[in-house]
Amino acid sequence: MTRESWQTRIGFILAAVGSAVGLGNLWRFPWMASENGGAAFLVVYLGVVLLVGVPGLLAEFTIGRRARRNPVGALRDLSDSRFWSAFGHVFVVTAVALLSFYSVVGGWILRYFAESFTGAYFADPGAHFAAIDYGAAAVGFHLLFLAATAVIVLRGVRRGIERATKVMMPAILVLLGGLAAWGLTLDGAAAGVAFYLTPDVGYLRANFLDILPAAAGQALFTLSLGAGTMLTYASYLGEDRSLAADGAAIAVLNTLVGVLAGVVVFPILFALGAGAGPAGPGALFVSLAGAFAALPYGQVVGAAFFGVVALAALSSSISMLEIPVAFLVDEYGVSRRRAVAGLAGLFAVTGSVVALDPDLFGFVAGPLVDLLLTGGLVGFMLFAGWVLGVDAVAELRAGAGALARSLATPWLYAVGVALPAFLMFTLVSALAAAAGVPVGPLSVFGLELDRTRVLLVVTALVAVASFLGLRRPQSVL
Ligand code: TRP
Repeated sequence: MTRESWQTRIGFILAAVGSAVGLGNLWRFPWMASENGGAAFLVVYLGVVLLVGVPGLLAEFTIGRRARRNPVGALRDLSDSRFWSAFGHVFVVTAVALLSFYSVVGGWILRYFAESFTGAYFADPGAHFAAIDYGAAAVGFHLLFLAATAVIVLRGVRRGIERATKVMMPAILVLLGGLAAWGLTLDGAAAGVAFYLTPDVGYLRANFLDILPAAAGQALFTLSLGAGTMLTYASYLGEDRSLAADGAAIAVLNTLVGVLAGVVVFPILFALGAGAGPAGPGALFVSLAGAFAALPYGQVVGAAFFGVVALAALSSSISMLEIPVAFLVDEYGVSRRRAVAGLAGLFAVTGSVVALDPDLFGFVAGPLVDLLLTGGLVGFMLFAGWVLGVDAVAELRAGAGALARSLATPWLYAVGVALPAFLMFTLVSALAAAAGVPVGPLSVFGLELDRTRVLLVVTALVAVASFLGLRRPQSVL
């Protein structure tokens, strides 16, 4: 059987943008930005997207297009090593973790979309969200969202994913643009725009090292990196496209939607005097839903907003399901139908468990996913840098223009050395903060040390050691 492929270049770009644009932009981004200083967070986040996200995206793209396989098969075939083929299986675990919680949030969104028409959450948004967030009702809507995801993936790469995202992406842009224009006309919207778009340099300086891991985590999540999604999508590409140009287009479009989402969310919140709003996974549902309840035409605006979010979530969840589907189809010759049916059954169970337990939800959606995505992307980067080496440069150059061709070798150094070290640093910092290691100075054998400097040195050493261990003869590094 011949392997599936995209029909058009724009089809691939829209599918990848569809994967990238999702709850990460519309639900997680405003929540993270409001907790980390608004515009200050935006600045750091944009920097990480450009300097780490785009090169990381290209690492997944080169591996995927070279191998024309799912992540497990790709790492195995290109390396001939047991270690890498075992490592590939991590991505199946990542897909389970991602979709299990994502589908629960997707279910909340579907519910709020329906309830915008009836105004069910209008009277008391806080109490309403607390009543529906976890438990049997959440399980039901999670199953509905999962079923919608499975139906699209079942139809295949061209007829399912490509066709669906071609309709969904323009719809998202138009609706979101309309909402932003409307939100900006509200009284008091200016304060929201200011919070969102004027960085407080003092805050940025004082908190830079705390903002950094949050911004890095957000950048990976929003670009769908570290799970093998982008690798899998690129595996359906031909050699005649420029990976660099497509990658840049995807990053730009995704960032635009993220920024636009903030322009929708913050003015509406500030117009209502809700300020940056309460933090946590319920932020969008409580504060924004509360705003819709209080505003003129709230029902229409609410339905439009949750409709956009639902479309965006769906075009992302299909990319999560496609990872293990591609794995079963490529590696075991299972039919797409069977693969989707079996996996949907599995996710129905894992997602339901997550929907029943708030603590488990918090753990999976937060630290577990951060760990898996960061570790996964470090793996892809090291693989491109040290296992593929010159081949990765050749792959990036295939079909590319002059600029991308000249940047290919510096790119290899970045993904082979600098960026994995940076990501390990953010990962260790985030884990240390989660484990309660104090932010202030540490005293080791009477030496006053800054936690962040210690971590920087340790992670750099670990990174160097792993590069040496992974060195391959064909590497140009
Ligand atoms: N990027 C998507 C969002 O922002 C979520 C997503 C889809 C994702 N596929 C992924 C995140 C793979 C990490 C890895 O909502």
